[in-house]
Amino acid sequence: MCGICSAIGGENKIFEVLNGLKKLEYRGYDSSGIAYFDNGKIKVIKSIGEIKNLEKEIDNSLYSNNVIGHTRWATHGKVSFENAHPHLSQDKRYALVHNGIVENFETLREKLLSDIDFLSQTDTEVLVNLIAKQQGSTLQKLISACSLVEGSFALCLQHEKEQKIYLAKRKSPLMVAKNEHGCMASSDMSVFAGRFETCYIMNDNEFAVMDNKNILFFDKNGKKIEKNAIFIKNCDFCEENNSEKYFMLKEIKEQSLVIKRTFFKYFVENVFLQFDDLKKYKSFHFIACGTAFHSALLGARFIQKFCHKKCEVSVASEFRYDDNVLSKKCLYVFVSQSGETADTIACAEIVANRGFDTMAVTNVPYCSLNNLTKFVLPTFAGKEVAVASTKAYTAQVFTLLILALKISGHNYSQILKNFSNTFEIEKPDENVVNFVSGFKKIFFIGRQQDYVTSLEGALKLKEIAYVNCLGMAGGELKHGTLALVDGQTLVIALSTQFSLKEKMESNIQEVKARGGKILLLSQFEPMVDVDMFVPLAKFEEFLMPIVGIVPLQFLAFAYATKLGLNPDKPRNLAKSVTVE
Ligand code: M6R
Repeated sequence: MCGICSAIGGENKIFEVLNGLKKLEYRGYDSSGIAYFDNGKIKVIKSIGEIKNLEKEIDNSLYSNNVIGHTRWATHGKVSFENAHPHLSQDKRYALVHNGIVENFETLREKLLSDIDFLSQTDTEVLVNLIAKQQGSTLQKLISACSLVEGSFALCLQHEKEQKIYLAKRKSPLMVAKNEHGCMASSDMSVFAGRFETCYIMNDNEFAVMDNKNILFFDKNGKKIEKNAIFIKNCDFCEENNSEKYFMLKEIKEQSLVIKRTFFKYFVENVFLQFDDLKKYKSFHFIACGTAFHSALLGARFIQKFCHKKCEVSVASEFRYDDNVLSKKCLYVFVSQSGETADTIACAEIVANRGFDTMAVTNVPYCSLNNLTKFVLPTFAGKEVAVASTKAYTAQVFTLLILALKISGHNYSQILKNFSNTFEIEKPDENVVNFVSGFKKIFFIGRQQDYVTSLEGALKLKEIAYVNCLGMAGGELKHGTLALVDGQTLVIALSTQFSLKEKMESNIQEVKARGGKILLLSQFEPMVDVDMFVPLAKFEEFLMPIVGIVPLQFLAFAYATKLGLNPDKPRNLAKSVTVE
């Protein structure tokens, strides 16, 4: 993970990089730091924790026109000052920030760098010393060091005597932009918004050199290459204004708008013109991680329900090591908010390299996943900042529903339009929040589509409130987990399918009989005794996964904030998981 940002030019770049890092903080917030030129020397400022801590270390009068910066999500080496980036070579001539993993760093350290006294446990310090050890110009050194590296990197390198910043990219995102004030590099495009009109997206195994005015690009043999600039649209994707205290709350509330926008994009603007091309596939295999895996589970259900086509769903970190039997008649669908998730990308590479058809369902324009796949089905959640995915999930679910309906040829546009016009975000009552936050042992249960909502509801509560909870199929409870149910247990039950209402009520009775407490979310009046009831708005059954998840997002948010936790930045996590 990690975010990197660097800037060079005729004016002060310290605060440009600092502001860039703030926008990249979603990529990790274990520590941060900058390296900058100061009177012919490279100086470093680092800090543990959020960027605001680094900001406190930086004097308002600090000036430098060559700055590289980093915000870290720890992989190699614990969270510590020593392990925070930037890292210097032993001779202090080179400074490096790095996003990615040098998988063979121990071998490199032992075989090629045994004379170096390392100050940190990071793979990045190995890399910067490896670069310093190579022969030739700085660019040649960089290219040669990268050729020895197994793993992934997006990196920015300074040499103390050169008014330049060197860049390299493999499997971690990196883009660059220039204007009359200088050049900038960043892990994502939002950093450029408002300052640059165009940017260049670096491909794997490309290198670049930025100076005050220009960016030159090179291939892995050091041969100069030309690249085309793309326009940075003034899109809502870069929008980050937030009047709420937390992004998560803003993003939960935005979901009705996201549904409206998605409907408009697919039914009015017709942004995807290849639905007919997708009809030929006999089956669909969805692959994703985390919350995107949950939306993929629903996507598969929609395709099966409306198109009667066989579907499979895999967790990306498993799929990539499976002995997969792939089929030409199957479309492999990779669902990812960021389009940068390492496991999902690895799967897309495996499938695409073997010549099978692929589709990305992503929320970030120009992300790495989109470059790998034959089709790209965009979601229109807008930029999601909070680590816990909310509006990106509902955007994925609604988009996958549209996909299924468009492939099936069913004419449901009026129903979807009505939904997009009337779906409102409703917060559960304060007494429900108080009730739920009194429990430390919580199970979420549901059947079929509600089982998926249970999984997603439990994930939200785990990741932001650190509650040890579990989402499961209602029918599975009695096969083991019921043994854990007692008077201190809360079971949150979802029931949005009329045909399964009585089955869910049986599951509720099983819990009540063991003294467990029940919170039921349903559009149907309960026929059994429950401790708390959250009525859901009534829409067609296949839309209820969107309706049902919203109160669970609110509950997780409220639980976390009651504990004084920051729901936007849960411990140990980062928004974009760009390492395996
Ligand atoms: O960017 P992606 O959708 O590929 O990310 C996948 C997961 O890392 C992500 O959904 C994660 O589970 C979220 N923190 C869930 O809220």
